[in-house]
Amino acid sequence: MKKICLALIILLAAGSFVFASGQQGGSGGAAGGAQAPLIGLAMPETTVLRWVKDGASLKAEAEKRGYRAELQFGNGDQVLQNQQIGNLLTQGAKLLVIGQLNDGVASAVADAARDNVAVIAYDRIIQNSADYDYYITFNNFKVGQLQGQGIEAGLNLKSATAANPKYITLFAGSPTDGNAFFFYDGAMSILNPYVQSGALKVVGPYPETSKDTANFQRIATEGWLPNIAKTRMENLLSGDARSVTLDAVLAPNDTLARAIIEAVSADAKYTNKLPIVSGQDAEAASLAMIKNGQQYMTVFKDTAKLAEAAMILADQILKGVANPSVPGAVLASSIGLESIGDTGRKVVKAYLLDPINITQANWRDPINAGFITPEEVTANNLQ
Ligand code: BGC
Repeated sequence: MKKICLALIILLAAGSFVFASGQQGGSGGAAGGAQAPLIGLAMPETTVLRWVKDGASLKAEAEKRGYRAELQFGNGDQVLQNQQIGNLLTQGAKLLVIGQLNDGVASAVADAARDNVAVIAYDRIIQNSADYDYYITFNNFKVGQLQGQGIEAGLNLKSATAANPKYITLFAGSPTDGNAFFFYDGAMSILNPYVQSGALKVVGPYPETSKDTANFQRIATEGWLPNIAKTRMENLLSGDARSVTLDAVLAPNDTLARAIIEAVSADAKYTNKLPIVSGQDAEAASLAMIKNGQQYMTVFKDTAKLAEAAMILADQILKGVANPSVPGAVLASSIGLESIGDTGRKVVKAYLLDPINITQANWRDPINAGFITPEEVTANNLQ
C-alpha cells in the first residue's frame, strides 16, 4: 500500500514530464530536434521526492533552451548510476548534470573528462575528483543554520538555563553526501553555544562538529534512508533517552523528520507533546505536519530555481563562455564558503542559491511558489 502511495505521489509530482520521458529516461523532447546537443541528467534516487521534481525541472529547462535531454534515476545505487552515465556518454551527451550518490561516481566523471564532456555537480559535490569545474547547489551551511535557528526559537533557548535545561538528540544525513556535513555544521554553529552553557543537553552521541568523525558516523543516516532513522530513534527512546523527555530532535530533512516523528509518536511519553523536530525540502507531507504542529520547521529549497540555474550555467558552458554567471546565485568563494566547492582534489566553482526558512507562520510559501503541485495540495490537505 505504502509503495503504491509513493508511486502515485511520484507520478503526480513529476506530472507529465515523467510520463513523457519514462522514469529510466527517455528520448529527447520535442524541443531541439534530433540534431540538438544532448544533455545527460543523472539524478540519484526517487526515495526523497525532491529528486523527481529536480529531474522533471531539469529536463524541461534543457528543452526550453533547445537542447535534447535524457533523464536517469540511479535508484540509490552508484554502480547503476555509473552505468547510466556511461550510456549517456555513448549516446553522445555533450554535458552531464549529476546528482551523485557517493564518490564512486568519480570514475564516471573521469570518463566524461576523457570524452571532453563537461560535468556540473548538481546539489551534491562530487568528491575526490579533479575532473570537473562546476558545482551548483544551495547554501548548505545556511540550510543547517536555519535548522539550528528553528530549534533555538522553538525551544526558546535564549531563556533556557543550565538549572532548567532542554534535551535534544541529534541526527545527520548520509556520510556519503558532502551536504550532510555542511547541514550539520551549520545547525551546530547555532546550537553549540547552548550546549556549552549547559542550557541544552545532548542525549546520545554529540559530535561538536562533523570533524568528530567517530561520533558523526554514530548520528549519520546511511543513504538518507528513513528506516535507518526510525530504528535509531526507537533505540534512543528505549536506551539513552529513556529517563528524560526530549524537547527537540535535529533532523536533517523531511523524509527523516517524518520517520523520527513516527517513532516518537509511538511512545506514550510523547502523546500530548511531541519534541520540536527540524526538517528540509518542504515536502508536501511535512508541510501538512507543520500546518498541524507535528513538525516544527522545514527548509524550502526551490528545486525549480536550482534546475533553471543549472541550465543557465550549462548553456553558457556549452557556448564556451569563459566565466559563466548565474543570476540569483552567489559564488561560494565570494561569501567565505569556498570549502563548499572543495572536492578533496580541487576547488571547483560553486554557485549557491538561497534556502528559505518555513514554519507554521509561512507554510503556504512553497505552495504559492508553485513548488507543490495542485495534486499534492489535495492529497495532503493543504488547502
Ligand atoms: C539534498 C537534500 C535531500 C538529501 C536526501 C541532500 O543532498 O540536498 O535536499 O533531502 O540529499 O536526498
